[in-house]
Amino acid sequence: MPPTAPHPQTTDTLPDVPVVDITAVGPGRTPIQQVMDLMREHGPVLVRRLHGRDVLFTADLDLVADLADEKRFAKHVGPALENVREFAADGLFTAYNDEPNWAKAHDILMPAFALGSMRTYHPVMVKVARRLIASWDRDARAGQPVDVADDMTRMTLDTIGLAGFGYDFGSFERAEPHPFVEAMVRCLEWSMYRLARVPGEDHSAADAAFRDDSAYLARVVDDVIASRAGTDERAADDLLGLMLSAEHPADGTTLDAANIRNQVITFLIAGHETTSGAMSFALYYLAKHPTALQLVQREVDELWGGQADPEPTYDEVGKLTYTRQVLNEALRLWPTAAAFSRHALQDTMLGGRVPLRAGQSVTVLAPMLHRQPVWGDNPELFDPTRFTPEAEAARSVHAFKPFGTGERACIGRQFALHEATMLLAMLVHRYRLRDHADYRLTVKETLTLKPDGFTLTLAPRTPAD
Ligand code: HEM
Repeated sequence: MPPTAPHPQTTDTLPDVPVVDITAVGPGRTPIQQVMDLMREHGPVLVRRLHGRDVLFTADLDLVADLADEKRFAKHVGPALENVREFAADGLFTAYNDEPNWAKAHDILMPAFALGSMRTYHPVMVKVARRLIASWDRDARAGQPVDVADDMTRMTLDTIGLAGFGYDFGSFERAEPHPFVEAMVRCLEWSMYRLARVPGEDHSAADAAFRDDSAYLARVVDDVIASRAGTDERAADDLLGLMLSAEHPADGTTLDAANIRNQVITFLIAGHETTSGAMSFALYYLAKHPTALQLVQREVDELWGGQADPEPTYDEVGKLTYTRQVLNEALRLWPTAAAFSRHALQDTMLGGRVPLRAGQSVTVLAPMLHRQPVWGDNPELFDPTRFTPEAEAARSVHAFKPFGTGERACIGRQFALHEATMLLAMLVHRYRLRDHADYRLTVKETLTLKPDGFTLTLAPRTPAD
């Protein structure tokens, strides 16, 4: 627990909300987990003050449900996303609501993310899953542990590169992560640490390094675009094809070159970092919960029991209901994009009790929303039965928000869930997961969350397993 001001204050504008000033300690390297701890101490609505800058955080179910009202609230591009805008500009994730390119790109790209479109991506997802399996087979034979988060990141980067843009990052042919990933992680870290800067300090070296990294990201993306733009595949049926050629249904215009670059950067980042963290947490919980693991094994064996090398079909992935519950439960405990912000469109009373002025923002802290009383009296317990259809029907839809809310919610949700459910099932079908290091969970934050230093050793499953 980080040291905090012993006596939280309140403000005049938010009379009943505690204000916790963290200036003396700073947000450190794990700012999300710090706010989680502050909420455990002070409750699910608080203002965190840093160098005189206030952020109103909430994890209260009633308030989060109210924030979902699109007539009174909209997505807020707060300081963290403003920093990401430095390298993703008006890409979908970081665009302002009223920036014309948001609606334009949203309308053009939405069809590529409808549930049915996942059929198109499915073969590529299987192909990349096989790369991961080939790599894990080699490690298993050599008795080498695998670094779970690194390999999940290899897999998700190659998948979004190939499925979205027909571009092969070849991540499994590299001992180290692809330089794109390293530069991207440094850009995300820069965005995060920039929030904690003490006024007056000199950060010119960090800023120069950031500019180099973001220029490198742009070069890679220009390469991705160039390798397609002049070819017959220009209008291919994938994200890049839509970006390069699809006309807006209402006015017939297409996306401009600068915006396409911003969208490709956005999708390469948003499309892999969060999914890889989600799969890593799911594998962590499976390695620690033999009963849940057995239930996933039973489900995958029913589908692929006697087959050494099953070729999952699109429809089979829809049958992996328990595996999907495991993934949801991992996303409940550690939603890998942990916070999203909303602002009031007019002066209003949030949840009938917190007065907000027009423009004032509130940040939803999903990991704590996912630990509120609606989840029962042991919310820290990993329990995939929380996501049976009956349990879901009995709970407010606003209790679970790993993908944000409203029209700015995650466009890639089905993509992520299809990819991750299938891969988890394939891995559990093939390997015994050995928690050889008796791993204790530490969560690394680089704006997104992932288990830090989590390794497994693997053995092939035998019929007796
Ligand atoms: C938006 C989470 C996977 C693309 C968001 C938001 C969240 C989120 C919370 C809303 C952010 C906000 O309100 O500020 C996640 C999680 C994922 C995931 C937890 C995986 C488990 C993906 C994938 C893609 C993607 C696979 C692309 C293939 C996007 C885009 C937006 C977005 C483009 C911005 C949408 C808009 O504002 O129009 N995501 N995401 N995400 N996500 Fe995801």
